[in-house]
Amino acid sequence: MIVVANYKMNLNLKDYKIVLKHLNNNRVEDTKLILCPPFVYVPFFAKNKTWYALGCQDVSANSKGKCTGQISASMLKDFDVTHCIVGHSDRRAFETNEDIAGKVKQLVDNEIIPIICVGENKKDEADALIIEQLRTTLSKINAKAEFYIAYEPVWAIGLGETATASYINKKVAIIKKEIKRLGFNNPILYGGSVDEENCINLKKCKVDGFLVGGLSLRTDKLISLLGRV
Ligand code: 13P
Repeated sequence: MIVVANYKMNLNLKDYKIVLKHLNNNRVEDTKLILCPPFVYVPFFAKNKTWYALGCQDVSANSKGKCTGQISASMLKDFDVTHCIVGHSDRRAFETNEDIAGKVKQLVDNEIIPIICVGENKKDEADALIIEQLRTTLSKINAKAEFYIAYEPVWAIGLGETATASYINKKVAIIKKEIKRLGFNNPILYGGSVDEENCINLKKCKVDGFLVGGLSLRTDKLISLLGRV
């Protein structure tokens, strides 16, 4: 199983020192853990990296130049970043599917694995939205590209309400069908109020792992989840 911890804009250096100490003392076999801290803490995570992989929460759609405040994929590569979340619903208000496609291309060109977030805003919303997100964001890469799709129904993020296993399986089937049609066959993760209790039921879904937000802030609970999936 793959577990991605998205710290979003939380914690500070003092907290992250404790997080890494805790994780370094509690290695979990057989689960691929990818930690995605805010940009400024990436050098600290890179320097102290042990058994987990290092990811980021966003990247520029451009390779260099007049992009004040942005960070390029090649800059992330300098710090051993191997994965990067793109298209998170927290960011979709500021970017289009086209923008996200550019980010995915930059990451793939720099051999960083994009974790592409897709998902509907409201429960039972038509699947056309997800299909369009997939079609456009995957339009600039070829069939050999490595990436993960993170299915995150926006209505299930951060509220303690997860989608049911059968709901997730239905959406995952649609995602798999669409990416197959586009020539891909890549891992699919689920995100949205996953915790160390409900993961026992959710791991029965046809997914390859989880993208967790709030749970990342409790390293003890994150370690419990890692041992259960
Ligand atoms: P929660 O796990 O807090 O619902 O957040 C999910 C998420 O947005 C991860 O990217």
